[in-house]
Formats: sequence, structure tokens, C-alpha cells
Amino acid sequence: MAEPKKVKIMETVLRDGHQSLCATRMRYRQMEPMLASLDEIGYKALEAWGGATFDTCLRFLDEDPWERLDKLKANLKKTPIQMLLRGQNLLGYNHYSNDVVEKFVKCASKHGIGVFRIFDALNDVNNLRVAIKAALEAPEKPEVQGCLVYTISPVHNNDVFVKLALELKEMGCHSICIKDMSGLLAPYVAYDLVTKLKAALGDTPVELHTHCTSGFGHATYIKAIEAGVDIIDCALSPFSCDTSQPCTETILAMFEGSKHEQVDIPAVVVNARDENKTLDRQALTPIAKHFLGVKKELIEEFGLKGYFDVNPNVLDFQIPGGMLSNLTNQLKEAGMEDKYQDLLDEMPRVRQDAGFPPLVTPSSQIVGTMATYNVAYGRYVAAPKEFKDLVRGKFGRTPVPVDRDFITKTLKIPEDQIIEDCSVEDAKAQSFDSFKAEIISKGFLNPTDEDVLSYALFPQVAEEFFKKHYQQITAYRR
Ligand code: CO
Repeated sequence: MAEPKKVKIMETVLRDGHQSLCATRMRYRQMEPMLASLDEIGYKALEAWGGATFDTCLRFLDEDPWERLDKLKANLKKTPIQMLLRGQNLLGYNHYSNDVVEKFVKCASKHGIGVFRIFDALNDVNNLRVAIKAALEAPEKPEVQGCLVYTISPVHNNDVFVKLALELKEMGCHSICIKDMSGLLAPYVAYDLVTKLKAALGDTPVELHTHCTSGFGHATYIKAIEAGVDIIDCALSPFSCDTSQPCTETILAMFEGSKHEQVDIPAVVVNARDENKTLDRQALTPIAKHFLGVKKELIEEFGLKGYFDVNPNVLDFQIPGGMLSNLTNQLKEAGMEDKYQDLLDEMPRVRQDAGFPPLVTPSSQIVGTMATYNVAYGRYVAAPKEFKDLVRGKFGRTPVPVDRDFITKTLKIPEDQIIEDCSVEDAKAQSFDSFKAEIISKGFLNPTDEDVLSYALFPQVAEEFFKKHYQQITAYRR
């Protein structure tokens, strides 16, 4: 019998887990009591930072995201902290100038990010170049991981993703992640994709990130592990399943087999710091118990539901879990609650017209809003600015070029506004120094680089935060 394959786990309870099930509302103080224990487990990494965590810290939780990162780093001495970064979008919804991207990556690395997972919603590698290069050059030598944003369409197949993975490796990425944000990757397709990636990439580790939205999750991991995947992303039980990741403890138990049956198990889940040891499932029990309490607190305080129904129809409309509840709210506010199904039916049509982008922030919101307009006012009678930007190329190349007549005749966008190379536009975006001058002009006289970056990403929210904290921040930091 062959040696069992060694698989590692990346834990998402501090980021995607509560983002998927509890609107990203977990506070630092609710994480702190378990950080030392989490650090002992032997996870490959702990995901703890990203767009929504950063935004929510400032907007709802009155926490400085940079301070949260410092505190996490002080408590996680052995396990790398992972963040999710949207390439040229960073954590916001626009493209930023190269110097803002470079400064952000450098700063995040300095504050303790050990793994940068970098993706672009359109899988346009040109939007990843600056961020990947900056992370590779960071003196702290973080791991740089490139993403294949997984989607299903007539123009996407496993060979397309293998080609993209080779490009990312060529750009210097240390590892490759299959990012399946809506749980679209079916088990046998995962088997084929991972087999092809492992054959093409040689020693470069392959990581799989999925969600249980469609119900595939655990089965997809089993088949991916059989095909040789190196790392899987899991969430501790209270923040797992539904629209979140498969459950850490369940996966561990699957690979333990049974005490009473002698069966061959093709893989073993190992401690990332000592591959001769397996991960200790019992050690997770008290941690899971704590986070179950946290989940109850969040549900209570923020009036959340805390669970989502499994919905295999996501395979057609492809809306990421976090966005479904927003759409329902938008429709309610517009007095169109009865149009929910029409909206879901309209999504694939709009996505096709927009050149089959994968649906992930920000493309998911853009396509969702366009579909809402179509259902409300008639097809393309009116179009939001962001949708026009998407089809005219402002965010990069769509997987399929958008039909010219659709751009100029249906959406009435003048020919000269079509963008062939969005990096030219990015170069014109506001610079770091200009953001800094803007904050100073508002009376906040001594912003740190971190303050400037928070402001560049979320201007209004950061300004409100500064109004509350500025005295205190300057006093402490200068
Ligand atoms: Co996710």
C-alpha cells in the first residue's frame, strides 16, 4: 500500500466562517481567549483578515483593523496569519494606483500577514501583477498565493484553470488556491482539476477553498484529497457548513476511520509544523465550545439568522452566499419581494452579456444590481455606472470579450470610453500622497500610513472612525 497522502488544514473561523454565517461581526475580544489554543493546533495558517473584516471593523465594530492585526500577531506566534486580497482592488471596490497597492501590501506584511492570498474577480492576471510583486518583495518573506477564481460557464473548463495556474506560478506565486466562493466545484470535477494541477505544477502546493452552499463541500474535499490536494480550508464546527466551509472536526474524523474496522484510508491530516503528527481533534473541542457561545452572542446582538439553507440552485445563479441575503433586502426595500425568482432567473443572462465573469466581490454585486434593474425597469432600460464600467473594461479583461453592439447600442456607451488596457487607467488613480493630503485637509493632521490606507479603501467609514478616535490615535502614535 502506498504511503498515505499528507493533507494540511487552513482554518477560517476568524474570517470566512463568521463572514459567511454571521455577517463578519466577530469582535477581536471574542477571538482573543482562544488564540493561544488555536496557535497550538498545527494549522497550516489561520485566515483572519480581508475586505469584509477590515470594513466591518471600522464601520460596525469600532475597531482599528490594523490594531486588530497587531493583537492577533502578538498572540499567534507559531501559525501564519492569512489574508485575502483582491489584487488591484485591494480590499475596496475600485482599482487603486500602483503606489497605494504597494504601500498596502508592504504595511500588511509588516503588521504580520504571513500568507497573502491574492485574486482578481475576472481572473485577469494583469490585475494581480503589482500586488504579487509587492508581496514577493516584502522583507518579512510572506507566502504569496495566487488564486483561480472558480466558476462554471461555456468558456471555463479545467484546462483553462490549469493554464491560469501556470501563469501564476510563472509570476512567482509560492502556492495556488482554487477559490470556489459559491460552492460550485463538484466532487468528480474537483478530482479532475486537482489531478491536472498537480501534474502541471510539480512541487507547487495546491490548496482548495470551497463553501457548502450547494451541498457539495465535504464530498468535494474527499475527491480533491484523493487526487492529491495539499491543503484544504475548513471552519470549526460552529462556523462551518451552510454557506461556510466544510467542518474541520468532521474532516479530521473522516480520516481517522473507525476503531473497529480495518480499512485503507488514502490520506492523513497532519500537523503543519510536524508532519509526523496528526491533527488532534480532541484539542478542538474546547475551542469549538467557545465559538459556539460567540455565535449565539452575535446572533442575539445583531439579530442574525446564523444559518442558511442548502441550495443546489446556486449552481445556476452562482450568487455567493454572503450576497444572497443582501439581494433579498434590496428587493424588499424596492417593494419587489415577489420578484425574487425573476431576479435569480435574470442573473445568468446578465452574466452572459457581461462576458461570463466569475461572480465574486465586486463582480457579484455589479451583476446582481444590473439584474435587479432589469427586473424592476425592463431589460437594460437603465444601467448602473459600475455595470457600464465592467463591460467597458475598466476592471480588466472579461473571460469573453463583451459584444460591441451591446456596449455601444444597448448600453449607449460611447466608443471612446471602451478601455483596452485598464492598467493605463489605474496609473491615473489617486496616489497615496494625494489621499494623505486629503485627510490632512480635513483637519486630521498627523495620519499614519495605516490611517491613509484605511481612508483610501473606505473613505467615509474611515473618516467617521477618525472623528471618534483621532485624538487618541495621534496621542498614542506620534
Ligand atoms: Co470563501
